[in-house]
Amino acid sequence: MHFSGPSAVFTALLTLVAFPALIEATSTELFGDIQNPGEFESLSLTRERQQHLCHREVPTVFFQTEKDSVERGNGSTIFFHRIEICCAGYRRDQYSGDCVPDCSETSPDNCRNGFCRSPGNCECFEEFVRNEHGACIHTCPIACQNGRCYLNGTCACHPGFVLDQDTRQFCRPQCSQTCGTHEECVATGQCDCSPGYRRTPDLGCQPVCAPDCGFGKCVAPNQCECFAGFIKRPNRNVCEAECYLNCENGFCESIYKCHCREGYRYDLNTTSCLPQCVDNCGQGNGVCIAPGVCRCFGGYEAHGTGCRPKYPAANTVTV
Ligand SMILES: *[C@@H]1O[C@H](CO)[C@@H](O)[C@H](O)[C@H]1NC(C)=O
Ligand SMILES: *[C@@H]1O[C@H](CO)[C@@H](O)[C@H](O)[C@H]1NC(C)=O
Ligand SMILES: *[C@@H]1O[C@H](CO)[C@@H](O)[C@H](O)[C@H]1NC(C)=O
Repeated sequence: MHFSGPSAVFTALLTLVAFPALIEATSTELFGDIQNPGEFESLSLTRERQQHLCHREVPTVFFQTEKDSVERGNGSTIFFHRIEICCAGYRRDQYSGDCVPDCSETSPDNCRNGFCRSPGNCECFEEFVRNEHGACIHTCPIACQNGRCYLNGTCACHPGFVLDQDTRQFCRPQCSQTCGTHEECVATGQCDCSPGYRRTPDLGCQPVCAPDCGFGKCVAPNQCECFAGFIKRPNRNVCEAECYLNCENGFCESIYKCHCREGYRYDLNTTSCLPQCVDNCGQGNGVCIAPGVCRCFGGYEAHGTGCRPKYPAANTVTV
């Protein structure tokens, strides 16, 4: 999991909604897989497009901080708040507050030693080069990955490594055998699945789609091909039946039925799947913000799998 992208986006959210704990604990699950609900697209202003600002509807329950204060949402129904976020592929810059391109998906260190020009497009600074993992690394004469540098700028590989043919600036591990389909040489003599693929018992390395495709087949990393009769709604990467339910964190089995992912239960108010926690966080003493993760209301504290009333403060104890 790459946390740098999402956490940056959520740090930004934090300043908007001012609930640090909510943001920290949840990652992407909180909002399901709808990036920018399509029906709001037409309301976006040019200014917002240029600034890569999008809107997202978030169930109002996630904003609740006090046990007895249920808020009315300002979204499409009272059960949703509508908030501004950076569009997919962008993250909030912690200093400027602007939405800037995000390279964390293609660059393990989010384009350190380079310039993230557009989403996923990391350009290394001069005297750096992209290695096999997408990171920008020093070139000779300063360094040469898995080799040694000569003053004339030549990178000489250590035994078991070969010079990268495209750049001739770093050395890749060498495998004597040819690696299989969707595999690559990850260490000297060792093939493993390429990024985005996972080994299966029968079929070798297979692409991974997360969340899963619903009524479809995962044909490449995070690329779903729908079975006949099923569709992908705008900004969603799951194959489902046509329906009028939001069905976030799930997929529609039919026009009236939402199938929730594991760890989620269907909620009539939002027509979506909300995360599930043991015993509703201790009889409703907190909000379930991710499967099995509670955020306790004011005056309550974490206890076991849920929340319980805090002990009275010392100066209010009556004997
Ligand atoms: C809706 O409420 C949220 C949460 O309080 C707030 O951040 C957001 O700015 C509001 N949106 C609008 C359009 O008023
Ligand atoms: C650079 O120096 C090394 C060691 O002296 C030598 O083996 C190599 O051929 C040189 N390469 C070039 C391009 O001159
Ligand atoms: C649905 O909304 C109503 C009205 O706000 C609320 O009383 C009820 O608890 C909600 N149901 C669930 C399952 O959240």
